[in-house]
Amino acid sequence: MSTVVVIGAQWGDEGKGKVTDFLARGADIVVRYQGGNNAGHTVVADGQEYKLHLIPSGILHPEKLCLIGNGVVLDPEVFIGEVEGLSARGISTSNLKISPRAHVIMPYHLRIDACDEERRGANRIGTTGRGIGPAYADKAARAGIRVADLIDPESLAERLKIALEEKNAILTKLYGSQAFDFEAVYGTYKKYGERLAPFVSDVSILINEAIREGKNILFEGAQGTLLDIDHGTYPYVTSSHPVAGAACLGSGVGPTKIDKVIGVAKAYITRVGEGPFPTELKDETGERLRRRGHEFGTTTGRPRRCGWFDAVIARYAARINGLDYLAVTKLDVLTGLDRIKICTAYSYGGETVEEFPATLKVLSRCRPVYEEVPGWTEDISTVRKIEDLPVNAQNYLRRISQLSGVPLALAGVGPGRDQTLVIKELY
Ligand code: IMP
Repeated sequence: MSTVVVIGAQWGDEGKGKVTDFLARGADIVVRYQGGNNAGHTVVADGQEYKLHLIPSGILHPEKLCLIGNGVVLDPEVFIGEVEGLSARGISTSNLKISPRAHVIMPYHLRIDACDEERRGANRIGTTGRGIGPAYADKAARAGIRVADLIDPESLAERLKIALEEKNAILTKLYGSQAFDFEAVYGTYKKYGERLAPFVSDVSILINEAIREGKNILFEGAQGTLLDIDHGTYPYVTSSHPVAGAACLGSGVGPTKIDKVIGVAKAYITRVGEGPFPTELKDETGERLRRRGHEFGTTTGRPRRCGWFDAVIARYAARINGLDYLAVTKLDVLTGLDRIKICTAYSYGGETVEEFPATLKVLSRCRPVYEEVPGWTEDISTVRKIEDLPVNAQNYLRRISQLSGVPLALAGVGPGRDQTLVIKELY
């Protein structure tokens, strides 16, 4: 038996979808435990591309149980759309379950997300506009609507009435926006509740039973460590906890039940949205990484900011998540670069900084200290063993693992399921 948590070790978009899809082969259950449809996973399976936002990427393996834990915020319209999209392509969703404790993203959350961003102006966060922050805010304010309410018309009516009183006041008085009509929202969401009801099950019970039976469980994190609301680059973060500890909270499993934590990191680094980014490349090399790495958001289509691998961030992710192993993705994107830079530390006011700073004020003034290594020109997309990689590519992988202080488990050389080098078996 093994329980494995996979998290993003950078700013999200590290290629977790591919890694989880690959690891899902050895798992009996795949669980999502935080975030919502702000996430976007592109998975290529049997030559077909699937873009998933909410449903765990394990869904492409028909025999796996796929669970959406209580820590997720669920937009029912998006969920139903994904279920229908998968069904239309012959992918069964009969093994998909949602926790009744998960919170629901309501239409006013989407509107408030947009209005908040507009109000922030130059200080906008650059959210995905999916209502994530406002939904988590309501959860913390004890004003949320949970899946259990959505599927119970009486509870839904009760909770929605209370919510709309407040939201309509905010929308009309603060933002000069339109109020939501109770009957219209209730009618639509009651129907969504009927569609969702067959999927609802106590996810915590299912996982804990499976752990007792010795099954393999994969916890699939969304976003990345630096987008964590506590440990990330606050306030340019998401409103949930992409770090490994959240796997327990967001699914109803005790910390003693987790065996391994894998951090996924790109061989370089990207970021979408606003906020400081020490190794950002605003030049031709950055443009090249974006083009070769197809660095455009799965959810919003926005171009991602690209930069060199940052070992300060990798060490920070190792500490915050307790990483056992690193999965490095998109190594092939670096092919053809003459020299590759790795950020080993920051320089701040003449001092060398080894640890990731707590404030944006300091981070924005940190300059990367680079080490340069030689690149490689050979096509590595067909390589399947680490020892078959060009020696400079092997050295690059070893060096980033060494600087991060985390051993390597996997390395990706292309988007396909089979384009993965296994350095350490994880089940
Ligand atoms: P929100 O999660 O939509 O509230 O957005 C907050 C911040 O997190 C923004 O900078 C987004 O670009 C970023 N973000 C949210 N989800 C993802 C993701 O899946 N990948 C990368 N960035 C994300």
